[in-house]
Amino acid sequence: MEFANLIFTVEDGVAIITFNRPKALNAMNAATMNELYEAVTICEKDDAIKAIILAGAGDKAFVAGADISEMVNLRPQEAMLFMELGHKTLRMLENLPKPSIAAINGFALGGGVEISMACDMRFCSETSRFGQPEILIGLIPGWGGTQRLARLVGFGRAKELVMAGGQIDAKRAYEIGLVNKVFPVDQLMEETKKFARKFTTLPGFALKMAKHAINFGYDLSLDNANRLEVECCSQCFSTDDQKEGMQAFLEKRKPAYKGC
Ligand code: CAA
Repeated sequence: MEFANLIFTVEDGVAIITFNRPKALNAMNAATMNELYEAVTICEKDDAIKAIILAGAGDKAFVAGADISEMVNLRPQEAMLFMELGHKTLRMLENLPKPSIAAINGFALGGGVEISMACDMRFCSETSRFGQPEILIGLIPGWGGTQRLARLVGFGRAKELVMAGGQIDAKRAYEIGLVNKVFPVDQLMEETKKFARKFTTLPGFALKMAKHAINFGYDLSLDNANRLEVECCSQCFSTDDQKEGMQAFLEKRKPAYKGC
């Protein structure tokens, strides 16, 4: 699939979406966000794609935020459309019924952190830097940074990042739970691909149910969230993969999953 601002490839059942505007540190303009929506739609529809990796082209940035040159003269109504476009796209990515990993090398700032937080996991290189610097340019995060960041790292840390606009390094991002794993720069992509490939061998329906229960249970009362879990877990018993997984365990052999 050809895009103007993204590179879209599929390797061994893993789609790799690479933001490809390295001269602008992969800053996200509306055109790129629209392409991301299209790419995520392809990932959702194509049964051969089992997992997704998001990355940035070049060696300086994952994504250095929304494109400031495109936003500078927006009026509130126009800004609202741009922010809504980001939210629509990132919500779709977040709820894609397949696992997603952001592979972050270099800067993940503003919209860059926000895109990564719509992925299920974030892996980064040792030299990566993170921040929500919008306050420094008279703005606040507009693609979920005030909401997903607080849910991920807690209110106090989110407020520090959003309200003071500072940057943190990979080590600190790992300490506060913003990233799951940190790798040397030259190992980041290979390790991320290796991890993503594991998902292609796991029962797809159970993966979908696990993600659904976590994503949609989070905002429910504990009783309702537990009910959701019961329903999602019970649904797994309608699949051949559940029968195969348990039978293989009992027969002390490797399961042969069919993905249904
Ligand atoms: N938008 C547009 N262009 C950007 C950009 C952005 N977010 N970030 C970097 N660029 C461009 C620069 O303008 C520059 O272009 P030129 O070569 O044409 O001048 C090029 O990328 C390289 O950047 P720098 O020369 O600034 O590189 P540096 O190494 O000196 O600094 C940096 C790197 C610290 C990441 C710096 O570029 C920077 O601070 N970028 C902006 C970060 C930011 O404020 N992000 C938040 C944006 S607002 C947002 O994201 C809102 C939202 O929530 C939706």
